[in-house]
Formats: sequence, structure tokens, C-alpha cells
Amino acid sequence: MRISENRAIVKAENLVKTFEEGRVRALDGVNLEIQEGQFVSIMGPSGSGKSTLLNMIGALDRPTEGRITVADVDLANFRDLDEFRAKTVGFVFQLHNLVPTLTALENIQIPMFEMDLSLGERVERAKKLLMVVGLEKRMGAVPSKLSGGERQRVAIARALANDPKIILADEPTGNLDTASSDEILHLLLDLNKGGQTIILVTHDPEMAGHANVVFHMKDGKILETTCK
Ligand SMILES: Nc1ncnc2c1ncn2[C@@H]1O[C@H](COP(=O)(O)OP(=O)(O)O)[C@@H](O)[C@H]1O
Ligand SMILES: [Mg+2]
Repeated sequence: MRISENRAIVKAENLVKTFEEGRVRALDGVNLEIQEGQFVSIMGPSGSGKSTLLNMIGALDRPTEGRITVADVDLANFRDLDEFRAKTVGFVFQLHNLVPTLTALENIQIPMFEMDLSLGERVERAKKLLMVVGLEKRMGAVPSKLSGGERQRVAIARALANDPKIILADEPTGNLDTASSDEILHLLLDLNKGGQTIILVTHDPEMAGHANVVFHMKDGKILETTCK
């Protein structure tokens, strides 16, 4: 395979997703292409299909119609979506979804159980990831002892656990104050500078302003694409 600088890591063609036996058309014919290493933002009003699109890219759900290819995998026809997810994508949600009874260091190791690592290797890797997000001093803390911004940093470290090709972040700063939101944005920007492909759903035009490409959604369609 020829590797060029502009390699599509995500390609969607006429993507349709309906719910409730077709009564809800969450995605109504989405076409897009995302290149490896890009920082992409998805904006649009509540209910416009942003999360549904992210879930399709992350193979949390299959499309009703159309094609979606992520990292050369045709998701509509691929059998083992669990394996695809474990290897290819890291999710960060608005609510961090950390396990409350586990420490930061332990939470980060959860996705690593899909990999062939010894306990020692897992712990080492989790510590390195906590350093990446600047939380090595808090590794023994359970989520309730961390601030909102710190929890979200742990969630990002967890999303990075299996060295995913793409980070999918669905309004990751939706519950955070401005200072913590800035921290998360800069962490994502730093990861992107290191080559990580990032797809960020956000309501915040300032956050979206840092993206290479912004897809503006409405009623399950991409109405407009702005590029930097
Ligand atoms: N699991 C589901 N069952 C039924 N309707 C859904 C489901 N998920 C999303 N929808 C509907 O699809 C539309 C798009 O939702 P969503 O992708 O969550 O929008 P956004 O993330 O932009 O707020 C909305 O009308 C929503 O109610
Ligand atoms: Mg949403």
C-alpha cells in the first residue's frame, strides 16, 4: 500500500442511520472524508446527529444504509466490531465514565485487558499515560477525589491506552469550567501535534476554531464544511 500524506482514515458515503423503525432519521445521507493526523471538529445543534455520527465512526453501532470505512475497515460488513474498537478508536465522553471504585492508574488499564500484556507492562504503560496527561501524582486517587478536569484527563489517558488510530471525543468539556476546558483542549492539541487523529464534537466555536476542518451538521446532514 502506498502511504501518502493525505490518507483518508475515515470515509463515509451516503451514511444513513434511522431509529424507531425509520421514524427517526438521525443521519440522513452523510458524506465525509477525514485524513490521518487531522484535528476535526463536528458542530451543530442538539439532535442534529453529531453523537450518532461519532458512534458510527467508532463502530458502537452499524449504519442503516451507506458505507463507512475507518482505517481501511468496512464497518458495515466487518464481523468483529469489538476487536476493531479495541485496536482502532479511543472514546472520550462528556461524562467521563470512569469506574468509581478504581484508582486513576487502574481505570487506565481497563482497555489494556484486550491486549497481550503482563500486569507489570500494564502498570508501566498506565503510568506513562498518566504522565502524558500530567496526572502522575494522582495515580492512586479514585474519581471522586479528582476535579472534573482531572477526571477528564484520566478519561483521555484511558482512551489512549491501546494506542488508537483515532480519538473520538463527544463534548468532552461539556461539564467543565473554562480553565479546565482550556486544559483539555490543549491536551488534545498536543496529542494532535504528535500525529494523533482527533475527532471532537463540541458546541464551543472557540474549541472548533482550532480544528483543521469543521463539519457543521443539521438534521442529520453536513450542511457546511470549513477548512483552515
Ligand atoms: N438510540 C436512539 N434511539 C432513538 N432515537 C435516537 C437514538 N439515538 C439518537 N436518536 C435520535 O437521533 C437524533 C440525533 O441524535 P444525536 O446523534 O444524539 O444528536 P446530537 O449528538 O447532535 O445531539 C435525535 O433526534 C435523537 O433523538
Ligand atoms: Mg450528542
